[in-house]
Amino acid sequence: MSDNRGVVYLGQGHVEVQSIGYPKMVDPSGRPIGHGVILKVVTTNICGSDQHMVRGRTTAEVGLVLGHEITGEVIEIGRDVETLKIGDLVSVPFNVACGRCTTCKEQHTGVCLNVNPSRAGGAYGYVDMGGWIGGQSEYVMVPYADFNLLKFPDKDKAMEKIRDLTCLSDILPTGYHGAVTAGVKPGSTVYIAGAGPVGMAAAASARLLGAAVTIVGDMNPERLAHARAVGFETVDLSLDATLGEQIAAILGTPEVDCAVDCVGFEARGHGTHAHEEAPATVLNSLMEVTRVAGAIGIPGLYVTDDPGATDAAAKRGSLSIRFGLGWAKSHSFHTGQTPVMKYNRNLMQAILWDRLPIAQIVNVSVISLDEAPNGYRQFDGGAPRKFVIDPHGTLKSA
Ligand SMILES: NC(=O)c1ccc[n+]([C@@H]2O[C@H](COP(=O)([O-])OP(=O)(O)OC[C@H]3O[C@@H](n4cnc5c(N)ncnc54)[C@H](O)[C@@H]3O)[C@@H](O)[C@H]2O)c1
Ligand SMILES: [Zn+2]
Ligand SMILES: [Zn+2]
Repeated sequence: MSDNRGVVYLGQGHVEVQSIGYPKMVDPSGRPIGHGVILKVVTTNICGSDQHMVRGRTTAEVGLVLGHEITGEVIEIGRDVETLKIGDLVSVPFNVACGRCTTCKEQHTGVCLNVNPSRAGGAYGYVDMGGWIGGQSEYVMVPYADFNLLKFPDKDKAMEKIRDLTCLSDILPTGYHGAVTAGVKPGSTVYIAGAGPVGMAAAASARLLGAAVTIVGDMNPERLAHARAVGFETVDLSLDATLGEQIAAILGTPEVDCAVDCVGFEARGHGTHAHEEAPATVLNSLMEVTRVAGAIGIPGLYVTDDPGATDAAAKRGSLSIRFGLGWAKSHSFHTGQTPVMKYNRNLMQAILWDRLPIAQIVNVSVISLDEAPNGYRQFDGGAPRKFVIDPHGTLKSA
């Protein structure tokens, strides 16, 4: 049996590529399963969600094999798998979902009831998400494969666009979900907090959905320059001018129809506070700049436990949110893990038919598995890139 190597979390600020053992057809409790497949990983991306763990801002345990953004080739099939065959090229939604429970049947695959004994929702390589082994590795096991996997219809055509299609496992559906739940439609004015990969994917999605103007905000000059280079308006939150003032300078009014939080709980303050952490900043500022009866999509991650928080309330995920303002303005809020499966097939078609140059918009940068620790460091430093690991050199040789 082939060996396997993967990216392992070894404590705050420390990941390493280690030998992790070849995947087995068992669930995290060790029970044998017949509904899984084993994939040879073609691409696997580093995500801002991984950074929360690697920065020591979650209760992730040392030894966790990371990686929830996986695209791969089927090389082994469990006895109960009916619709997949060896050689299929597939995108793996980061959600592990059973396809049998009430929430899965309602398409809320981000909160499946059967894949995580401690709470609703499962994912690969993630704290509190059921203990499924991560896929920043050479090989990975995917359970409930018939239900979870999106097969690319033409393998050769898919390989030509693999840098774009690799975004289907998480950030593209996540950005799209943020835009959809913020109510973006033709002619909308949109503000997106965060110019990381998820923010850029949300901006791309807003454009695809017909937004009139899409404004992206951050305090990272390189990321803002990249956002402008791919055609979005930007606001710089390190400036003294408030977010509303900067939006007014673009739109003539300090409010937008729709807003998306692509930052999460490690948010920084604005203006002179841009170097300090202020976890409620984005949520509060989005209520200020979203018009009455507007909607706020919140794919940015918020946690129930944050060992690195500065105050006792935030350590338990309690933030000082001015909820009364949102209430007074009749805002709608949408939170939670993205149900990737709701969107990935349509977004795949948009990519295959040249409607969505997502790799360019998020600035996909392909690295080898051994370069992963360096990719983590650069991404943590705010590089305007989406790092995509190519564990077998498949893209390099293509
Ligand atoms: N809901 C989901 O299913 C889902 C899926 C994927 C990622 N996420 C979450 O989405 C968030 C973004 O992911 P990413 O990969 O783009 O992360 P990232 O860390 O690369 O990007 C976050 C960006 O926010 C900026 N920022 C900090 N404070 C800000 C503020 N007050 N206003 C505007 N920008 C600010 C940072 O400078 C950074 O550029 C993370 O919290 C991640 O965990 C959620
Ligand atoms: Zn992710
Ligand atoms: Zn389920």
